[in-house]
Order: sequence, then structure tokens, then C-alpha cells
Amino acid sequence: MDVKELVSKMTLEEKASLLTGSDFWHTKAVERLGLSQFMMCDGPNGLRKQEGESDHLGLHGSISTVCYPTASAVASTFDVDLAEKLGTTLGKECVREGVSMLLGPGLNMKRSPVCGRNFEYYSEDPYLAGKMAAAYIRGVQSQGVAACPKHFAANNQEYRRMSGNSTVDERTLFEIYLTAFETAVKEGKPKSIMCSYNKLNGTYMSENKYMLKDVLRDKWGFDGFVVTDWGAGKGAKEGVLAGLNLVMPGPNDDTPKAVVEAVKDGSLSEELIDKAVTEILEVFNWTVENRPASADASDEMTKKADYETALEIALAGAVLLKNSNRALPIREGRKVLFVGEFAKKPRYQGSGSSHINSAYVSNAFDFAVEKGISFVQGYDTKNNENGCRLRNEAVTAAKDFDEIIIFAGLPGSYESEGFDRKDINLPAEQNKLIDELSHLGKKTVVVMHNGAPVAMPWIDSVDAVIDMQLSGDATGEAAVKLLWGEANPCGKLAETYPVKLSDNPSFLSFPGDMGNPVYAEGIYIGYRYYEKKRLPVLFPFGYGLSYTEFEYLNMKIDSDKITDRDTATVTIDVWNVGSYAGDEIVQLYVSDDSSTFSRPLKELKGFKKVHLNPGEKKTVSFTLDKRSFAFYNEALHDFYVESGDFTVMIGASSNDIRHTAAIYVEGTQDIPLHVDMFTCIADILASRKGKEILGPIFEQFKKEAAASGEKHDDAMGEGGSEMFESMILEMPIGTLANFGMMGMEEVKALIEALNK
Ligand code: BGC
Repeated sequence: MDVKELVSKMTLEEKASLLTGSDFWHTKAVERLGLSQFMMCDGPNGLRKQEGESDHLGLHGSISTVCYPTASAVASTFDVDLAEKLGTTLGKECVREGVSMLLGPGLNMKRSPVCGRNFEYYSEDPYLAGKMAAAYIRGVQSQGVAACPKHFAANNQEYRRMSGNSTVDERTLFEIYLTAFETAVKEGKPKSIMCSYNKLNGTYMSENKYMLKDVLRDKWGFDGFVVTDWGAGKGAKEGVLAGLNLVMPGPNDDTPKAVVEAVKDGSLSEELIDKAVTEILEVFNWTVENRPASADASDEMTKKADYETALEIALAGAVLLKNSNRALPIREGRKVLFVGEFAKKPRYQGSGSSHINSAYVSNAFDFAVEKGISFVQGYDTKNNENGCRLRNEAVTAAKDFDEIIIFAGLPGSYESEGFDRKDINLPAEQNKLIDELSHLGKKTVVVMHNGAPVAMPWIDSVDAVIDMQLSGDATGEAAVKLLWGEANPCGKLAETYPVKLSDNPSFLSFPGDMGNPVYAEGIYIGYRYYEKKRLPVLFPFGYGLSYTEFEYLNMKIDSDKITDRDTATVTIDVWNVGSYAGDEIVQLYVSDDSSTFSRPLKELKGFKKVHLNPGEKKTVSFTLDKRSFAFYNEALHDFYVESGDFTVMIGASSNDIRHTAAIYVEGTQDIPLHVDMFTCIADILASRKGKEILGPIFEQFKKEAAASGEKHDDAMGEGGSEMFESMILEMPIGTLANFGMMGMEEVKALIEALNK
């Protein structure tokens, strides 16, 4: 279809009608011109296609299909190929079901561990979240189905999500909350993006021209269309002016009417409507032209294959948090008791718009029954009053067994779209149960089901913990395979598990007064904060054990001095020194050792997953570029490298660094210099031009001060030259005249030269 020609044939009313949906999940058709509807569905961890009554909260039914692990579990695989495979699998399902756009992935940052939707998001780290999202998008779109990353942007809580105003400074916004979206847009090239409900710095995202146009399109090169989150549309005219394309859901007569009126009264140009419609139809056209010629049949075979993909991700995303004295895997001939409702009815997905109607959910009990295990319920997620009785039954039963495997986790009512958790605790009944069972002198293993961090007050008294996260339909089968060592748990945490909620940096400003959060902790979220404060955590970002062990040897960096226009290659050998085959997730962090700006001690700038058989060794390599060293400079409104020394760290987690290397990086970008009487000398010297002009004068002052110090028998006292240097550096340039170090006219001439 020739989109431009089609648009040129449309009446203003027809064009305006395309700016909103015809129902919950479809765009409008223009039958007169042969334009049909376009269907979109949630996402992100399965296909939630509704054929009957519709809603955006998971209230009504949807087609029966496969539920995959949620984003937090996918991120724990640190495996971009798997994230892409998930996208491809979902893309194929969309093709089979006639769906043109999938509403995912969700990639908001985990500012607080209690955000109700954290299970739907990847990480607290923007680099990891961006890479996983881009891979998922590439997968979905490889099938000619549009992906729609969401929720753009600074939508990091559920409380008053439709009205809250997130106040975020520019550096924090770009460095933390936008980086994952930027990577998703630049590397995944999504055909659409969903703007969030909230206001950002005072403006609703659906009307935020700075974000939807200046940043998204002009800075990052996004060329798809912007759709509102469901119900996030505000002023129709303001939306079009800001760069919004589609208001969902429909039908909604107000949007087209308001747009037509605005064109007629001259406050909106028809060209802008043409642009908005063209951007939607170009994507529609792309989906038609890129749709595979023939789709797989939607039969039991494809469902089985999709289930196998869900299983592969569930296995790869599970994180072994503790394994004292090699408690796991379970050895042959042991008498094993499964305790906990989740062994039979696992918690495997979150509630809300991502909720999938699973065709089949595996439970651990069914998969382990042939191994001769027994089961007791242990707790009742629906009724706490049964807690004491069920706990006593479990404790009595446990006495006859060698190993107690407790299936615990957050009930569905704890984690959902629409509200945040109150704390990071498991239900008290579960904590009591684990505590009592772990003091019986038996081997105790906890299998966790949770989409976000929980406190583990019993961690010291249990032998092992496997965190399954919310791992989709295959969760039960995956848990059994991992427990008995038929698969090796190799995932790592994509999010820090704090000791207690009040340790979290957003604690004092989450969810903000009246749901208006001020992101006062700035760039220090997740491990960036815990590391800098050296606060103990329950489990750090990037952490996870395995049934085998890996050694890291021979770290090399191909250059110890580069400019920010160059790249550096870092290599390291990883060696499986244990007796199980396994995957190691190798992480690369960078620190800026000489910055004049506040920077985290470690920032993830690379990760690689490598499969190694026992005794096998492989070389892993990373490429570092400007962004590996840069921070967002507000004077430049861009990422910027400050010349200086950096440390490159390679490790098995954020707090298990195995090797480091030093590198000097020279920044080649200049910060725009605007000097007045009050500009500090240090700020002038930080720029290339400032250094050229003021540098020699500054050196001369230092020399004179040192000479005078010597002449007066060190009159400045010990440390005098350091004192002199820092006092001068921190002085506004005009002050040079106040101290008679220069004449006022001379200072003015200097300022003029600097500003030229
Ligand atoms: C959610 C979106 C979802 C949409 C449609 C909204 O409530 O925030 O993530 O895609 O509904 O169901």
C-alpha cells in the first residue's frame, strides 16, 4: 500500500478517526478506501488475546496459550539470545492469531523493590534492561509483528500511576530512566512505543513534546508511532502537537471531534494530522509486508514447542541463592518431603494486563512424584487461620524425611499491576513455617516463587535456596530438574535483594506525597547506591551460584590509553573447575576514578554468558566504547567522558570482582563554556579552551605561591600548596581582582577571551 497516497485520499474526519481505537484492541477501519483494522494485544510474557469481553486489567478471559517467565526472570538469564528467542516465539504466536502488535516488553527501572509491576520489568540496571528489551523487540519484529516497549517513561510505581507526577532531574532521567528505552529504540528499532500514564516533571507523558518528539524522535531516531497506555489520553490536540499518534482504547468520539475542530479553528495544522496518521499506517503497512508467507498451525505441536521454550527460559532464569555444603542437587535414595501449596499450585505469573490464560501449568509435585516424594500443604495462601494447623502437620510429617523442600513465595494478591507492595516480607505464616522446619536438624531447601525481592529472615538456618522467580507454565518441571541436578541453575539476580526495605534509596520518597514522587536519590538506584554506601545487602546485583565453579584468569585490555572516539577490547578466560556443565554469566563493570562529578563505584557495561563443560576454558571478550565511560552532562545535554583514569572490573557479580585493569580515557568533547565573574576557576579549567587560556596563568600562580612559601620559610604551613591550589580552583574568577592577583580590566579581558 502506498501510505502517502492513501492518506491523501482521506477526508479530515477519516484521518482524525484513525487517531483512536475502534474498541479495546483494534484501530479503526476506513472501508471506503479498503483499509482494515489492526489488532494489538498484551504482552509481555505471553499472548493475551481477548475474543470476548475486553479489559486492560486481566479481569476477563483470553485465549488459552503458553505463559512464559516474566521479565524479571528473563533478565536473570542475562541471555540476549534467549530474550530474542522469546520475542520470536511470541511473534509467531501473534502471526498465528492474527495479531499485528504485541504490547511489550516492559522495561521501566526498578526504583523500589515494592513497585507492584516489578515482575513485568527487567532490572534496576539500565544497560541490562536495554539489551534484553532490544533483543525481545528484534525477536517479535522478525515475524512482521510490531513490538511496543512500555511504559515511556519514569513510571516506576503503581500508586496513583494514572495521575502522579514524577520529578526527575535531567542527568538521572537520561542516565537511569531513559537509557534502557534509548537502547531499545536504537538497537531494537521498535515500530511503536507506549507512553505512560504519569506526568514527568509536570507534563503528562501523552502530551510531553520534549519526550515524544525531541528525545524519542529527534535524539534517538524513533520512526514508529506512539500509543497511549490504555486510558492515558488527555487533550487530543495537545497529544497531536506533542507527537502522540494513537489514543487507546476506543471507541472514543471526543478525540477525533476535538482534532477536527482544532484544524478548523486553525489551532492545529492538517499536516500534523497527516503526519500522525502516516506514522501509524506505515507501521500497519510494514506488518502486512513483513508477515511470513505461511504461519505455523496453532495446534498442540506448536503449544508443546512453545512450552519447551518457556521451560528453557525458566531453567536459565532460576537463581541459586544459597547452597551450603552442596546441599543441592538432591542425591539418589534420599527421603524427600515437599512442603507448601506452591508445590502443587505454583505461583508463576503476575496479575493485571499481563495475565495469561495458561493452557497447562506444570507443578513440581507431579514431576517429582515418580521420585517417591511426599507432600504436605504447609500453609494456605487464601486463609491464614489454617496456618498453625498446617504448620504443625508439616513439622510432624517432616520428622520421617531426610530432606525438606519448601515451596514458598509471594501469593498473587501481593504482587500485581495497580498497587504496590507494602513491604518486602513473605506472608508471616510462610516465614514461621520455614523457620520451624529449618530447625529440625534436617536438610532444608527453599524454592522461591516471587517476581521481586523478599526478605529472608531464615536465610542462615536453611541449607539452600533456589529462586525460581515467576517462571511461567514450566515452573514446576524446571524446579524439579534443578533440584535433582538434571539442569544446573545458572541465573543471576538482575536486581539487588536488600536486607530490609528501608535500606532502599527511594524509601523516603516512594511513592511520594499524593503519589508525586521526587526521585531524590538521583542516579543512585539499586547497586549503584548499595555499593557507594557500602551497605550490606541480602544478595547483590548479578549474584547467583551454580552446581559448578568457575575461575577467571588472564584479564587483558588491548590498550591502557584511548580517547572517547576509540574502543578498547577486554578479554578474560573463564574456566569451569567443578564437575557439572554450566553457564557462567561474566559481568564487566567500570568506575571513573578521577571524576569531578559524583559517579557510582561500579556500573555494568558488559555481560556475556558462556557455556562450559567441566574442565573447559573459554575466552570471553568485551568491547568498551564512549558510553562505557560516559555520564550525562547537563551543560552539554548529552553523554560526556571526562578525561581521566578508569578501572575496568570483571566479576561474577557486582560484589565479586575477580580482576581489574586500569585505562586512561581522554574525553574529546568540550563542555560549552559561558564564563562570568562568578564562574569557578575549576569549571573553566575543565574545558579544553579554558585550560588553554587560563591553564598557564593558573600554573604561574602556583609557582609564585610555592616560591613565596619557600622564601618565608614555609609560611603557609604544612599542606600549604594543596590549600592554595584548592582555594584558587574553587574561587570565582572575579575574585582574582578582589585579591589583587589580577587587575579588574585584566579579568574582564580574560572573560571576554574565554567566551569568544
Ligand atoms: C497497562 C499496559 C497494558 C494496557 C492494555 C494498561 O493498564 O498499563 O501495560 O498494555 O493496560 O492492557
